[in-house]
Amino acid sequence: MRHSTIIGTGFYVPPNICTNDDLAQMMDTSDEWIQERTGIKQRHFADDGIGSADLAKHAAEMAIEDAGMTNKDIDMIIFATLNPDVFFPGSACILQSIMPFDTIPALDIRQQCTGFIYAVAIADRFIRSGWCDHILVIGAENHSCGLDFTTRGRDVAVLFGDGAGAVVMAPTDNVDEGVFDFTLHAQGEFYDTLWLPAPYGKYKGRITPEMMERGEHYPKMDGRTVFRHAIPRFCEAISEVLEKTGYSIEDVDLFIPHQANDRITNMVAQRTGLPKEKVVSNIARYGNTTAATIPICICESRQDNRLKKGSLLLAAAFGSGLTWGAFLMRWSI
Ligand SMILES: CC(C)(COP(=O)(O)OP(=O)(O)OC[C@H]1O[C@@H](n2cnc3c(N)ncnc32)[C@H](O)[C@@H]1OP(=O)(O)O)[C@@H](O)C(=O)NCCC(=O)NCCS
Repeated sequence: MRHSTIIGTGFYVPPNICTNDDLAQMMDTSDEWIQERTGIKQRHFADDGIGSADLAKHAAEMAIEDAGMTNKDIDMIIFATLNPDVFFPGSACILQSIMPFDTIPALDIRQQCTGFIYAVAIADRFIRSGWCDHILVIGAENHSCGLDFTTRGRDVAVLFGDGAGAVVMAPTDNVDEGVFDFTLHAQGEFYDTLWLPAPYGKYKGRITPEMMERGEHYPKMDGRTVFRHAIPRFCEAISEVLEKTGYSIEDVDLFIPHQANDRITNMVAQRTGLPKEKVVSNIARYGNTTAATIPICICESRQDNRLKKGSLLLAAAFGSGLTWGAFLMRWSI
């Protein structure tokens, strides 16, 4: 039966590193506080003038080359980001212009930290239906241009980093490999527990000097509420996808959780019974790169030989929306 698998991977982080000590020069925070609460030691920040689509270009080129393809072989672009280059059009269209691609469909999705899980699920369904063959699935984020690097914004600013990850998805008829299934959820009643209030599409002019004065053009987070929801939702997504596919947690060879916070990852691993050696963590080096996190981890896990042909890969995420989800796949390259 036709379904989808991943045949190429790529990632990119900009060269500039910002350590916790660097942040402590700009706001009232410390390396100790950040490491203890999150596990983050440093993150990469893009230079001024580099947008999410520019970061995505590097990851996309690497993934397409890894798949043994050229841009001409790609039938569709799905771009997950919470940092679109502009309000409209979507970053997929901007990437299409700078790569470049032919007039293939280019779709942005806005599911934040769960963006890559949603994107893989959408791509899988397009491929399964036979509507297209090769989809470039990207998660890319330039957070650094929109964070409040003063003490007012420290709760959010210390968490996020810039980067991009990409995969090429393709059809397979081998029922033992590729994406087995996924689970997707959202609970919009908590949309304002992690959000960007401005520009706001229901006020004239979308953004006013007063809104800027209040710092509403910077992300706002109720960290404790987000934390409280994250652990049970991660665990639910994992047990749902395992139940749907008939696998058990012991069958999983590698778990790639969205890298929101090492405390969240460790508690999820503990509650689901996943041993530490099966859990991927790169948050210390990159921080939370939102939709880019899972494809970056996938690419690095291949480079480290932790993800091999035949590995049963479980990926799960939770984030703003609130949104959460997971997919389970047998790695095929
Ligand atoms: C953000 C988070 C690390 C904060 O940890 P916490 O233990 O909940 O800390 P609190 O929010 O209770 O804040 C404790 C104190 O540290 C302060 N603080 C907040 N950010 C700080 C920072 N960067 N540096 C130093 N102190 C900070 C707070 O102001 C507060 O001070 P107070 O007690 O004087 O009011 C934690 O809530 C978290 O991880 N939440 C989930 C966030 C997340 O994953 N978001 C992305 C979802 S994908």
